[in-house]
Amino acid sequence: MRHRSDFWLPGLAAAALALTAAGASVKAQMKSVVEPSANVLFAVGGEVDPANGPDAARAAPARWKAAADAAARLKSAAAGLTAPDQSRPGEEWAKDARQMHDLAEAAEAAATSLDGARLADAANALGDNCTACHSKYKPQTAS
Ligand code: HEC
Repeated sequence: MRHRSDFWLPGLAAAALALTAAGASVKAQMKSVVEPSANVLFAVGGEVDPANGPDAARAAPARWKAAADAAARLKSAAAGLTAPDQSRPGEEWAKDARQMHDLAEAAEAAATSLDGARLADAANALGDNCTACHSKYKPQTAS
C-alpha cells in the first residue's frame, strides 16, 4: 500500500493549496508583498525628497537599491492583480492595478537613476493609488 499514500499525499496538498489561493490570494499578496514593498518606497521616497532639505538626496546606495527592488516587487504584484485568480469585477479594478504597475515602474526608474524628486512623486502617487482601489474594493470592516 506504499504506492497509495505516495499518490494521495501530494494530491491532497495540491488541493489544499488551490483552495487557499482561490480564497485569499489578494489579501495574502497585499500582506506579504504589496504592503512591505510600499513601506520601503514611502520611507525612501521621504528620505530623498528634495522638499525635505538639501541633504535629502544623499541616501546611501543601499537605500536606493532597496527602493528599486521594492518597486520591482510591487510591479510584479500589480501584474498579478489582473490575473484571473485575483481579478475582481468592474473596470476600475484593472485601471487601478494598471496604475499601480505604472507608478511602480516609474519608482523603479527613479530609484535606479537616483532621482529623488521623481521617486518622491511616484511614492506619493502610489499612496493615493492604494486608497483609491481600497475605497472601491476593500471590505471596509477589514484592517
Ligand atoms: C487594484 C486594487 C488594489 C490596489 C491598487 C491596492 N490594493 Fe490593497 N487591497 C485590495 C483589496 C481588494 C484588499 C482586500 C482583500 C481581502 O480582504 O480579500 C486589499 C487589502 C490590503 C491590505 C490588508 C490586508 C489584510 O490583512 O487585510 C493591505 C495592508 C493593503 N491592501 C495594502 C495596499 C497598499 C500599500 C497598496 C498600494 C501600494 C495597495 N494595497 C493597493 C486591493 C488593492
